[in-house]
Amino acid sequence: MALNLDAIGKKIGPVTKDYTWKDLVLYALGVGAGFDELEYCYEHQLKVIPSFSIASVFEFLAEVGMSSNADLSGILHGEQDIIFHSPIPIEGTFTTEGVITNMYDKGPDKGALVVAEAETFHSMGQKLFTSIFTLFCRKDGGFGGEPGPTETVEFPDRAPDFEEQSTPASDQPLLYRLSGDILQLHVDPDFAKASGFEKPIMHGLCTHGFACRAVIKHLFPGEPERMTRFRVRFSRTIYPGVPMTTQIWKMEEGRALFRTINTENGDLVIDQGIVEWMSKEAMERRGKSGGIRFDDRVAIVTGAGAGLGRTYAMELAKRGAKVVVNDLGGARDGAGEGSKSPADQVVDEIKAEGGEALANYDSVATPEGGRAIVDSAVKAFGRVDMVINNAGILRDKTIAKMEPENWDAIMDVHLKGAYNVTRPAFIKMRENGYGRIVLTSSAAGLYGNFGQTNYSAAKMGLVGFMNTLKLEGEKHNIRVNTVAPVAGTRLTEDVLPPDLFEKLTPEFVAPLVLYLCSEQCPVNGAIYNAGMGYFNRVAFLTGPGAVIGDGKEVPTPEAVAANMDGIKSLEDAEEFPNATAAFGPMLDAFSPKKKEENAGPSAKLTVKDIFERLPNAFQADKAAGVDVVFQFDISGGDGGSWYVTVKDGTCEVAEGSAGSPTTTIKMADDDFVKLIIGELNAMSAFTSGKLKVEGDLMKSQLIEKLFSL
Ligand code: NAI
Repeated sequence: MALNLDAIGKKIGPVTKDYTWKDLVLYALGVGAGFDELEYCYEHQLKVIPSFSIASVFEFLAEVGMSSNADLSGILHGEQDIIFHSPIPIEGTFTTEGVITNMYDKGPDKGALVVAEAETFHSMGQKLFTSIFTLFCRKDGGFGGEPGPTETVEFPDRAPDFEEQSTPASDQPLLYRLSGDILQLHVDPDFAKASGFEKPIMHGLCTHGFACRAVIKHLFPGEPERMTRFRVRFSRTIYPGVPMTTQIWKMEEGRALFRTINTENGDLVIDQGIVEWMSKEAMERRGKSGGIRFDDRVAIVTGAGAGLGRTYAMELAKRGAKVVVNDLGGARDGAGEGSKSPADQVVDEIKAEGGEALANYDSVATPEGGRAIVDSAVKAFGRVDMVINNAGILRDKTIAKMEPENWDAIMDVHLKGAYNVTRPAFIKMRENGYGRIVLTSSAAGLYGNFGQTNYSAAKMGLVGFMNTLKLEGEKHNIRVNTVAPVAGTRLTEDVLPPDLFEKLTPEFVAPLVLYLCSEQCPVNGAIYNAGMGYFNRVAFLTGPGAVIGDGKEVPTPEAVAANMDGIKSLEDAEEFPNATAAFGPMLDAFSPKKKEENAGPSAKLTVKDIFERLPNAFQADKAAGVDVVFQFDISGGDGGSWYVTVKDGTCEVAEGSAGSPTTTIKMADDDFVKLIIGELNAMSAFTSGKLKVEGDLMKSQLIEKLFSL
């Protein structure tokens, strides 16, 4: 069985993990911390050992192993690189998502490498770390792929600058495994012997934690949050109770190389270690506006010379974004020449606070203006990641007095303006596979406001624009959302009562807009009201409706009148993601209900059902050359024994025990059903002992391929 090269590019996750201070302390104890490093073990002023990051995305790693189809009996954790973006808070939820980026071939006898990359975010919104995992698949080499890059570090030809010796306890793995890696190899003496070891070995990731503590202790003691990178190559195994020495060479300020050796025999346990850390000054700067960051991201904010736009631009810049401050500096109704000074002033303010910004004075009201705004961002900063369509004017008139020029001026700035800027920006974002777009609507459009037919139409038009753009952007990781702000600005100075005007500062709207611009924003196609710290979502709901007639004969207006209660009811109203979905209830109303589909997931599926369905689920086209007998011994009240014979492209399922099966699978009935319906991951079932495999382990991986239940 070979690696599944089609898994390259496969998205894995999101995998989430909740943690509290107790998980941090348990991990710290597992990697040898104690009274000497009380900051890792005591909930008061607790600090996080950065390597906790990788121990907590173990499930992701397991998924990589399964998806790549690697021979599980030959997998070793080869290398691990972690880039830290923000300090890890002491509690919360990690959300990890990533892809298998590559598979390399070291040669028939040398194995293969499966590389995956993942981003982990905290539940408070900030990006925490990027992990690059390399699995060394000892038995999967020789598939004819590229050998891959070899990034090796040369240790200096001098004695290490620092050495840290530590001796893990003889039962260290028993404590470490409670942090999640419960593979039998580290606990079960018989399993360890069957795998060729004298006794259970240390977890590679446990030695990783020991090394992480050692480098922090010598390079930036007591300040683990300064670590920006920690890379290792796992080299040799080591038994618990054997002393280890971590040797550290400081290369320059902010960078050191290290390795960990078995002190008794000199074996390299961890090799090719790189650690990087930030200066105290950089950390202080980051500390000022920790949390959600926009470093290396480029934002365009239209109408940013004043009011809400100015605040968005300032707040984005404070959090690391490079900002194009667009504003033509016109009058409130859009008339007149315009002025450079509002945009210039905001740029000066951003720069005075140490941020990066560029002024742009083009009008959003023309396609040329929109293109010029986007071009200025690309020319100055190389890309566009975020667009906040915010520029706005007012021309309030009742409909009788609404001359075409007042109608058109509003459409040009608000509705066409958003199109003019968004279109060229979207094209750039699509190239980068990333974008965040915010549109600015208004309560006037969402609910109506006397004297604003032009403005209301434009503001509601933007919602329609979003509803379709969200679908077009989805596969390119471009998300578009709408805010309906309420703030005291030039536009509202004669509308809002003075005391309210003072209280409704634009700063209260900005947090939502920044969240919608952030990398981890999961929302796409939503509308939010925001003002004074009050936020709520606005949505279109569709009522269940009424069916009149049989869909063949046209009903009468009188029949509509008689059914009005049902037609207008919003009881059990639903929200639809797109127009096709919204047609569904209409089509369903006249088609026979598909009972099985409505019955929900196979909640009542029994083990017996599964084996009965197996022949139909057999994928004969994938069975060429396969000759195996799987024995399933399922324990529990619903269990029993079945065996499945796959030979010459056919499949036979029988109750009972096979004479000499190729592979025997042992599981409890509940777990087996969960595994089949996808509620239990095969790798975690295997590592946790819920799934036991006897005989040819490698062949067990064929099951997923041969049957599609
Ligand atoms: P503001 O008048 O303080 O800011 C709007 C900015 O847009 C001005 O600096 C103006 O020079 C600029 N601008 C106008 N036309 C432009 C064009 N063609 N090209 C480039 N820049 C242009 O107003 P505010 O309140 O900050 O408005 C921002 C957005 O929020 C607008 O879209 C507005 O309709 C919307 N809004 C505001 C509400 C509020 O309570 N302030 C309520 C609902 C919506």
